[in-house]
Amino acid sequence: MTTADVMFDRSVLIQKAIDVLGNSYAPYSGFNVASCVLGSSGEMYTGVNVENASFPAGRCAESNAVAAAVGAGEKSITAIAVIGGKEAASDSSLVTDYCTPCGVCRQVIREFCDPEKLVVVMAKSVTDYKEVFLSELLPSSFGPDSLM
Ligand code: THU
Repeated sequence: MTTADVMFDRSVLIQKAIDVLGNSYAPYSGFNVASCVLGSSGEMYTGVNVENASFPAGRCAESNAVAAAVGAGEKSITAIAVIGGKEAASDSSLVTDYCTPCGVCRQVIREFCDPEKLVVVMAKSVTDYKEVFLSELLPSSFGPDSLM
């Protein structure tokens, strides 16, 4: 199976992330990130990075999007889009690179999915993106099953 076999509208997921990119709160790094999660119900949930004057208290966009999905009652997720870049809140066309989820976010995503099936969409725009299964970003992962 390839990621292309997983059917969902990539452009909608990316656009929903772009729609909230302006809400990113990143006064310290200036690096704005937005994310949109596709829950197993078909609903979508967004998140942005929210930094803090006490730097370690800052939260990533992907983790916030996952938290929104779980808070709304989703038990699992099937895809996640991420887009971000330096000072990109004002204009998503300032995104120059594919933003990959950080290590902590990879683990947060892992908790609520099958890593061989969850598609991570790393976007520069609605039409320009790369996608991989989470298992490629987080091989040999430790998940809920590991504790059984
Ligand atoms: N950031 C995210 O929101 N997601 C990532 O996957 C990478 C990093 C945020 C954290 C911090 O607010 C800023 O980007 C710079 O690291």
